[in-house]
Amino acid sequence: MLEIIKHPIVEHHLTILRDAQTSNAEFRHSGDVISHFLAAAAFNGLPLKAKDITTPMEKFTGSEVDCDIVFVPVLRAGLALLDYFKFLLPSAKISFVGLRRNEVDFNASEYYFSAPQFFDHTQFIILEMMIATGGSVTSAIRRLRQEGVRNFTVCTIIAAPEGIEIIQNEFPEVRIITASLDRELNSKRYILPGLGDAGDRWCGV
Ligand code: URA
Repeated sequence: MLEIIKHPIVEHHLTILRDAQTSNAEFRHSGDVISHFLAAAAFNGLPLKAKDITTPMEKFTGSEVDCDIVFVPVLRAGLALLDYFKFLLPSAKISFVGLRRNEVDFNASEYYFSAPQFFDHTQFIILEMMIATGGSVTSAIRRLRQEGVRNFTVCTIIAAPEGIEIIQNEFPEVRIITASLDRELNSKRYILPGLGDAGDRWCGV
């Protein structure tokens, strides 16, 4: 299940992210704006339960989100998405997966992992700024599945078709939401047209 967000504001901020002249302050801002749209799409359809309240005028039955959610930013660049996700759903828990890309064979190796307590119905939302080979996301899903996690959504700003195919082949049930499906990977497994190294640009290094 691949969902690609189409919105003029998203297009506008993707262009800022892609531009090599963009400062790291502008880069972070545009990443935040797009994260807002990703979060809104990821939360669309969350179950609600009735909540009785009293307005200043009368009694009223409203709604509250009835779901246990864990955000999983893939370190480093996945942190770029976290602020807006927790802004929209501050009660969610947070788990971290630290993966380092090996520049020789491009495989992802884990250097940090933490997960909170969860239930069978808990939904895990994996946050990754770019999906290139799909290595970091498949490693994160495999690792969380070892712990017993079953429900996954993956949110990313830019994805390459190669990475999406790898994730969908191994985990066809996973919902993937992206702001852009780019053309292809180059020989160094960077995304084209892409935006370069997302982690470096977001961290300002
Ligand atoms: N990670 C990045 O930061 N950029 C790419 O193009 C691919 C993976």
